[in-house]
Amino acid sequence: MTDADRRNDSLLDAPISRSGAAFQRARAVIPGGSMRPSSWFPPHPPYAARGEGCWVTDLEGRRLLDCSNNFFSLIHGHAFPPVVKAIQEAAALGTAFGLPTPQENGLAEAIIARAPHLEQIRFCNSGTEAVMFAIKGARAITGRSAIAKFEGAYHGAYDHMEIGYESAPGAWDGPDGDPASTPYARGTPAAVAADTVILPYGDPARCADILRRKGTRLAGIVLDPLASRIGMMPASPELLAVVQEACARDGILLIFDEVIAFRMHHAGAHTLFGVTPDLVALGKIIGGGLPAGAVAGPAARMAIYDHTGGRPGVALGGTFSANPLTMAAGMATLAAYDTAAVARLSSLGDDFRQATNAAFRAAGLKAQLAGMGALFRLHLTDAPIRDYRSVATIPAGKGAIAAVHAALLARGALLTPNASGALSTPMTAAETDLLTGWLVEVVREVTA
Ligand SMILES: Cc1ncc(COP(=O)(O)O)c(C=O)c1O
Repeated sequence: MTDADRRNDSLLDAPISRSGAAFQRARAVIPGGSMRPSSWFPPHPPYAARGEGCWVTDLEGRRLLDCSNNFFSLIHGHAFPPVVKAIQEAAALGTAFGLPTPQENGLAEAIIARAPHLEQIRFCNSGTEAVMFAIKGARAITGRSAIAKFEGAYHGAYDHMEIGYESAPGAWDGPDGDPASTPYARGTPAAVAADTVILPYGDPARCADILRRKGTRLAGIVLDPLASRIGMMPASPELLAVVQEACARDGILLIFDEVIAFRMHHAGAHTLFGVTPDLVALGKIIGGGLPAGAVAGPAARMAIYDHTGGRPGVALGGTFSANPLTMAAGMATLAAYDTAAVARLSSLGDDFRQATNAAFRAAGLKAQLAGMGALFRLHLTDAPIRDYRSVATIPAGKGAIAAVHAALLARGALLTPNASGALSTPMTAAETDLLTGWLVEVVREVTA
């Protein structure tokens, strides 16, 4: 038994909660007792029993205001009746076939109809797969192997996307002064790190310099315009200009990761930011709460996945890709996430962040909510947040964020462990006002 196990055991005091008992059982059969690093926090998370709208009920019967929404994948909250009905009807007809279904045409058309720049789409099962297939597409189109991404950004678990994801102060610059290509997983092949160029999100001039030196090696640049792990600051117009200029000059493909950000505009985040990427990776909300991913883009780019003329440039497949349950749930979700719903939710989020930041200032608290529209992330500083490094060096540190997360949970709000969150359409000002009040109380408590 490790020290951490002993600490956890001492925290799991009798009388043991139902969630505590579930976690103890889990530890016997699941390494770490939890299936996802992101859904574990000490001593153990509450286990979910059911959800309804923006509330989730745990095994103890406690109701939590859900701002995690399964890591931003449930735009309408839990058990949204049209989605439940769509899944039930699709399931009654069979859950998966070795044949195409009309449902895949339906969701493809629904997404393409929203975003004029996206002409074709192929579905897969997760955001990780979407980013991976987009990168493979970029490599096949350009005949190059290297990929650039921004320091600290999370794009799923594909090898190259885990490089430069959690570099630490002191070890984050390489010998040439560029952000180091630091692997995350032990055993990552050295060739993967060598083929991944890391860019500083908050420094467009330095990005331009790195891209001038390394651009002709690159197949693609992967960019999330509101990367949550970087700090959830929108990509600046200067940064977008530098990236687009390098792509045009050196024949690099621009891959927008909209696995989270698609929700920011009816026609996707690239439309909101005024960018025309070569490929867009989608996931999360497009599956209506079921596993989903997709690569979309102009038909000329998407042709790389066309298998009908013999061997395709990239084989984009998968046993459960485009299964009719996900397709049906996605269609019901997007139908209810129309332009009016997008606008209402974004303005609720803007009001919420502004009101909370004003309340932090009025209370003299060193804290801020970053984000845009309905997405937000708490930082325990009043200094400007520019990038991954300005988040990683906040003096209050990760321990204070963990304390905020725990204290919010005790009051009745579920955020992600790094204190980010997303509003869902069942929420109104009543819920966001409640959350503003809790955030002020909890930040005061933790930073006192
Ligand atoms: C921006 C971004 N890209 C890709 C992914 C990977 O998606 P998935 O977890 O569905 O594999 C995530 C997941 O959180 C993400 O936030």
